Amino acid sequence: MHVIQVSEFGGPEVLVPAVAEVPEPGPGQAVVQVAAAGVNFIDVYHRTGRYPNDLPLTPGMEAAGRVVAVAPDVDQVAVGDRVAWANQIGAYAEYAAVPVGYLVPVPDVVSDESAAAVLLQGMTAHMLTHDIHRVRSGDTILVHAAAGGMGLLLTQLVTAMGGRVIGTVSTAAKEELARGAGAAEVIRYTEVDDVAAKVRELTDGVGVDAVYDGVGASTFDASLASLRRRGVLALYGAASGPVPPVDPIRLMRAGSVWLTRPTMVDYTATRAELLERAGDVLGRVAAGTLHVAVSERYPLAEARRAHEDLEGRRTTGKLLLIP
Ligand SMILES: NC(=O)c1ccc[n+]([C@@H]2O[C@H](COP(=O)([O-])OP(=O)(O)OC[C@H]3O[C@@H](n4cnc5c(N)ncnc54)[C@H](OP(=O)(O)O)[C@@H]3O)[C@@H](O)[C@H]2O)c1
Repeated sequence: MHVIQVSEFGGPEVLVPAVAEVPEPGPGQAVVQVAAAGVNFIDVYHRTGRYPNDLPLTPGMEAAGRVVAVAPDVDQVAVGDRVAWANQIGAYAEYAAVPVGYLVPVPDVVSDESAAAVLLQGMTAHMLTHDIHRVRSGDTILVHAAAGGMGLLLTQLVTAMGGRVIGTVSTAAKEELARGAGAAEVIRYTEVDDVAAKVRELTDGVGVDAVYDGVGASTFDASLASLRRRGVLALYGAASGPVPPVDPIRLMRAGSVWLTRPTMVDYTATRAELLERAGDVLGRVAAGTLHVAVSERYPLAEARRAHEDLEGRRTTGKLLLIP
């Protein structure tokens, strides 16, 4: 089978196409034929070694496809089932052996591509809007990179829950997409000197109830300064680089605000929570109330180009690799 292999940490060029044996299912595993694999920023962190892993590795934390083999001790899924998974490495491949506890069923009306595109980011957006700062009707929420994979999903969920989104984006084309997803206000943060001042202006000086910040280094200070008293800063990623250490006194000065750095892994920690969160996200896609914007499909062998585009800030919505 064809896979992408990383033998040394580095830039996109270390994503090398290779040929490997189709895996056999180990105890507790099923082998899934991958129809589509999602590209996520965490794959960049794995590729560069920022999130350490043993080498060689096959990146990819999300995919959808069909079960083609199961271990003798597995009875939760059967050959032929349509499934998706997130948070288990190895999706940049034609086949992957996955512990069955990670697999979730895909509703008939949801395509493999949509399932692969929405599971990881959709559950993360669900975690942020439902558990980290649960959006109430009338809330105003600042969503950075609002035209990205996470940004478009967050914007739709916040809006559906009665919240008002102030989005940030870098270009006019991205502004249009963010508005299309429901953003009431959009700031082109590459053109505005003081983003927090602009946010205050848009909130009658009060600030926002929460900030969902996956950009990190370049947005953190503005995020903190944009919050209302006792607001929530959910720093959930670092597309622009990691945030330097923060003195807790800054949280007091910002108005007794809350800072959290969540990973979705901890919000799908039990099988029951995973099934509930995945079921809600895939159910919304099935019902047509959550739209997954797949903006680019790359052949598996072109994983390098997908990473170059993602890191180069050239993409919107979701990127998929198709084996
Ligand atoms: N905590 C979790 O469990 C979890 C789960 C999923 C994703 N995440 C995080 O969510 C974030 C977004 O992921 P995504 O896959 O949806 O990516 P994405 O938002 O589609 O792409 C990243 C976007 O960030 C913006 N950006 C600003 N400065 C950047 C820079 N220096 N380099 C690259 N991009 C920059 C760009 O939008 P503009 O051009 O509009 O600025 C870019 O398009 C990532 O930080 C990821 O790690 C976290």
